Amino acid sequence: MIGIFDSGIGGLTIVREVFKQLPDRQLVYFGDTARTPYGNKSADTIIQYALEDTEFLLSQGAKIIVVACNTASAVATDAIKKRYPDVPLFEVITPAVSAAVKRTKNRRIGVIGTRATVQSMIYQKKIEMMHNDCTIISKPCPLFVPLVEENFINDPITKMIARRYLRPLRLQQIDTLILGCTHYPLIKSIIQIKIGKRVSLIDPAEQTVAELKKYIEEHPDIERQPPKNSEHHFFFSDVAPHLKQLAAQWLDTKIQPLLHRLR
Ligand code: DGL
Repeated sequence: MIGIFDSGIGGLTIVREVFKQLPDRQLVYFGDTARTPYGNKSADTIIQYALEDTEFLLSQGAKIIVVACNTASAVATDAIKKRYPDVPLFEVITPAVSAAVKRTKNRRIGVIGTRATVQSMIYQKKIEMMHNDCTIISKPCPLFVPLVEENFINDPITKMIARRYLRPLRLQQIDTLILGCTHYPLIKSIIQIKIGKRVSLIDPAEQTVAELKKYIEEHPDIERQPPKNSEHHFFFSDVAPHLKQLAAQWLDTKIQPLLHRLR
């Protein structure tokens, strides 16, 4: 069983991709809706939450962990690896960086994400680790998350804010832009218009699930086919009235949210 966690409902964009690329796999999802957002919190708090989220998924029988949240991926991956060295762990930063480095022609890559993700400088560090000469230009876009959760997906306000956030990146003449937050693929078309159609957008969900698929194919023992009629489980630390509707809209299918309080 694949375990996926996020700070809230944004990680459903990864679930959507798993449904597309790995339709036969059973998954268990945990969205920490009671403590969301992670993106404006300190690194210590994000690490503590991410470890608790991982522990819960493992207790539910997950054999592989996917950190769908970019903020947790940026800040807590090392801590999770250290605590659970034997658990295969997938985060959303490395696959996005690899794809961006392959795609850029002018070696100028933009990254947008939460404040915590941008402050972690994780993209710059990954590029350095790859000994790559690309320049990373990043910009936090904290208002995108509440706009998406308000369902202002195709709204003039979102367009106006996108123009304001993306202008500096446009002026820096990037040719590739990483959508470094779970929610941003849902406003991909607005971002594309405001950053310019010549800029190539990288959706970390697509890249991460492609790597996960490859891993599962290469390690058939780790994730056997689920028994017939096995269901996915969607846990949340708070189940607000609008959650079901948003989830159905983002996933194109209904889910039955289960409440799991962490404390
Ligand atoms: N899931 C978070 C991310 O991808 C966005 C929401 C939050 O700040 O918790 O960075």
